[in-house]
Amino acid sequence: MSFADFIAIIMLVIVSLMLATAFVSLFLRIPYVPSSTRAAKQMIKIAALKKGNIVYDLGCGDGKLLFEAEKTKNITARGFEAAPIPYLLAQLKKWIFGSKATVRMQNFFRADLSDADVIFCYLGTDIMTRLAEKFEKECKKGTKIISNTFQMPSLTPTKVWRKDKKKKLPSIYLYQI
Ligand SMILES: C[S@@+](CC[C@H](N)C(=O)[O-])C[C@H]1O[C@@H](n2cnc3c(N)ncnc32)[C@H](O)[C@@H]1O
Repeated sequence: MSFADFIAIIMLVIVSLMLATAFVSLFLRIPYVPSSTRAAKQMIKIAALKKGNIVYDLGCGDGKLLFEAEKTKNITARGFEAAPIPYLLAQLKKWIFGSKATVRMQNFFRADLSDADVIFCYLGTDIMTRLAEKFEKECKKGTKIISNTFQMPSLTPTKVWRKDKKKKLPSIYLYQI
């Protein structure tokens, strides 16, 4: 195989991954847009994680929230991501950071969330509406749901942090089952 063939194969793989990611994002109608570092840190502060907590990020993108959450020792971090490029980025970051987080390429609607202590979301209002039913059916009492920007219209938030332009923070909603 010549060097030109090798480059052509690499390009083909990259273009295929980009097309697959665009297709999945169109299908799910949720693009891969990571939470800002400030928002991620604020969401984790709100979660007030404790030793032994099981933490999920639904649609974890490149795993930013999972790796940030793992700075609290002795927690279990789990993420689900359907789109190939953010999933591969999350696996790469997991390897670079030596993280113990689990990242699955899976539709989170098919995941069992019954052991969750904290669930992070940065999705959209329609999907949060559907997730509210799943949370109510499946999650144990006391599970915290922390959502960047989007609320669950059918549930009353425990606390809301309104968008703060000066601090460059989005609205954040805390729900407790
Ligand atoms: C706005 S990004 C947020 C990424 C990450 N949670 C963060 O805050 O940085 C939403 C991600 O959710 C993923 N996603 C949307 N619906 C999904 C589903 N049903 N199952 C798995 N991943 C999903 C998208 O592919 C996208 O990468």
